[in-house]
Amino acid sequence: MKDIFSVKDKVALITGSSSGLGLTFATALAERGARVVLNGRDGAKLQEVLAGFNDKGYECMACAFDVTDKMKIQKSVDQIVEKWGRIDILVNNAGINLRAPLHEYKDEDWDTIISINLTGTYNVSKAVVPLMIEAGSGKIINIGSVQSELGRPSIAPYAATKGAIKMLTKGMAVDWAKYNIQINGIGPGYFKTELTKPLYENAEFDAWLCGRTPSNRWGDPEELAGALIYLSSAASDYVNGHMLYVDGGLLASV
Ligand SMILES: NC(=O)c1ccc[n+]([C@@H]2O[C@H](COP(=O)([O-])OP(=O)(O)OC[C@H]3O[C@@H](n4cnc5c(N)ncnc54)[C@H](OP(=O)(O)O)[C@@H]3O)[C@@H](O)[C@H]2O)c1
Repeated sequence: MKDIFSVKDKVALITGSSSGLGLTFATALAERGARVVLNGRDGAKLQEVLAGFNDKGYECMACAFDVTDKMKIQKSVDQIVEKWGRIDILVNNAGINLRAPLHEYKDEDWDTIISINLTGTYNVSKAVVPLMIEAGSGKIINIGSVQSELGRPSIAPYAATKGAIKMLTKGMAVDWAKYNIQINGIGPGYFKTELTKPLYENAEFDAWLCGRTPSNRWGDPEELAGALIYLSSAASDYVNGHMLYVDGGLLASV
């Protein structure tokens, strides 16, 4: 019987995979036999993760680039093609949050968050999609958030980028589905990473979140692996432009 969830031998580029959820995504793919390309801005951090992957026998390489740097992105895509000939799966995961009430928000922070969270996804997808069009197949998974649907105090710009990721996912699907490329999104709820440290270290927020989430707890990053593998594999070949929320039921409740 064909394993419709197989990602074996697929070449996967995961942006922002030197830590946090991106590292979980890269690990989930590598454990299942995919060839993974690790990425982040900090080259030293990336080399450490690469060494750990090599020790486990995973097929992997590392490309340090900032998702706002189109020239470095293209150079890395060329390196991947030189090594493995193609990119089958792209996970647009790199993202940041800069928190402040909107009326106090610094213009330069607005520009930074838009350029990483939104334009970064556009930049990397634009560099990778010609390979997928030529190959006649591909999977792009954009990482949104429950903030693709909901606001919260002090994160209006972050929510604006994540709402835009939802619409960019639909737009990519409309333009690229005819090339047998599936573009979908994952919308995580709340998971403990560097990004959410200010939140889980805040006892008041922690209590609020656990009360607000029907599952009454934070997510474990490994609980995102199922959604990722589904959207990376043949199991989702007729699913396109969809956001899959993995949020303990948070969006189902008010
Ligand atoms: N954690 C959650 O609960 C949660 C919930 C919903 C959505 N998300 C989304 O999930 C994604 C990952 O979040 P996380 O919590 O794992 O964050 P994280 O722990 O802060 O990790 C972010 C990763 O992205 C890299 N990165 C940041 N800016 C980059 C850039 N400009 N170019 C390339 N790499 C960059 C970082 O490495 P360097 O600093 O070395 O570049 C790091 O590897 C984000 O898109 C976030 O919005 C997270």
